[in-house]
Amino acid sequence: MDERYAIILAAGKGTRMKSKLYKVLHPVCGKPMVEHIMNRVIEIKPDEIVTVVGHGAQKVKEQLDDRCQYALQSEQLGTGHAVMQAAEYLKNKKGTTLVISGDTPLLTSQTLDRLFEYHQAQNASATILTAQAEDPTGYGRILRDQVGIVDKIVEQKDATTKEAQITEINTGTYCFDNELLFEALAELNTDNAQGEYYLTDIIGILKSKGKIVAAYQTKNFDESLGVNDRVALAQANEIMRKRINYKHMHEGVSFIDPQTTYIDDGVEIGADTLIEAGVSIKGSTVIGENCLIMAGSQIKDSVIEDKVVINHSVIEESTIHTGADIGPFAHLRPKADIGSRAHVGNFVEIKKAQIGEDTKVGHLTYVGDATLGKKINVGCGSIFVNYDGKNKFHTNVGDHSFIGSGTNLIAPLDLGKNTVTAAGSTITDNIEENAMGIARARQVNKENFSKRLPYNQ
Ligand code: UD1
Ligand code: CA
Repeated sequence: MDERYAIILAAGKGTRMKSKLYKVLHPVCGKPMVEHIMNRVIEIKPDEIVTVVGHGAQKVKEQLDDRCQYALQSEQLGTGHAVMQAAEYLKNKKGTTLVISGDTPLLTSQTLDRLFEYHQAQNASATILTAQAEDPTGYGRILRDQVGIVDKIVEQKDATTKEAQITEINTGTYCFDNELLFEALAELNTDNAQGEYYLTDIIGILKSKGKIVAAYQTKNFDESLGVNDRVALAQANEIMRKRINYKHMHEGVSFIDPQTTYIDDGVEIGADTLIEAGVSIKGSTVIGENCLIMAGSQIKDSVIEDKVVINHSVIEESTIHTGADIGPFAHLRPKADIGSRAHVGNFVEIKKAQIGEDTKVGHLTYVGDATLGKKINVGCGSIFVNYDGKNKFHTNVGDHSFIGSGTNLIAPLDLGKNTVTAAGSTITDNIEENAMGIARARQVNKENFSKRLPYNQ
């Protein structure tokens, strides 16, 4: 097979986004647009990938890392000019080059493969990936002659009223004979409405040289959506979200209302897990089988094992082991590790703490910087007092302990196995195995006290 190359165009600023974030870095379902493009391009296994960077070059490079080579376009003089910058890597090489924009995140690698196949079958020097658009506004239009052969591409801003009525659009993705591409690039000029070097003009140039130019039309316009503004960004998110949710359904995950369920690209979910409405699952989260994720939960960068129930809770960078149940209204902050069958109940916040197997932290409690063993009961309203305003301190609680309601545990502390704290205690000293710590004032009752109150006189 021919050598394959890919050029990703990612130097534009994205003026129409009205954003400080560079356009190709805007996320769609949790990943920057250019990351989606890179993943699709890698799937078709090119021999070399060159990304053209300019605006936000450093940030784009950080994102894509060493998966490609970089060509710098220091001034954004148009898509044709952007491709010229890849010459230092690709000029004079034999093979086929895919040119793709960093702002078309919905393209699939199957479509890119088909584009390559079609290009080869047609023996073309250039093949444009096109689509039929219901509303072609903003896209370049494909001009064909009487017998349907591609003539050239006309940009929206250069189109006559008649040309603007054409609904077949340029997706901004092409296959080129690599050597002919770089030859033709040298002939581009800026004689157009935007005063830019248009990559699209290459088509007309190759035609005029008698080369074969083809167009491969995808059936699915959705794939070709180019994101130039926030409206298109929202559309891209919606389309990709639907795709992601369908994929999970086909793999055995149930959704109560997929339209209001937001799952990032790359999240994994096991079969027979049920996800209720209004749930968002983000980042690198992995969820096991037979879980129940109830309405309104937000989960980010976490590992949830099998048979876990999460009820209307917020979970960040945490691990929840098999059979545990969380919520309603719990907040697991980074590095919470919840043991098998443990229970974390309502209005409980846990941060950087290990909760052992079968331990219960049922209500209105803060656990921070702590290690709790197995089968512990933490009473309502307990506070692991971990912070003196400057430093954080750790608390250990041994297996089978019982923390009475309203206990303040002033860290650093070590509570042995089978320890008890009396309800309402403020514990400042370690407690030995099997012992009880009680730290509260004795009650004194004042007889007939109410009669002395002013309002009773
Ligand atoms: C482009 C096409 C249009 C097509 C549409 C599909 C041209 C002239 N027009 O228009 O026919 O229908 O894509 O989405 O090619 N870029 C650079 N350097 C530049 C200019 C752009 O790297 O100097 C990059 C941008 O970052 C972007 C891509 O090229 O990723 C496309 O540029 P954009 O300005 O979005 O082109 P469109 O106006 O959408
Ligand atoms: Ca665009």
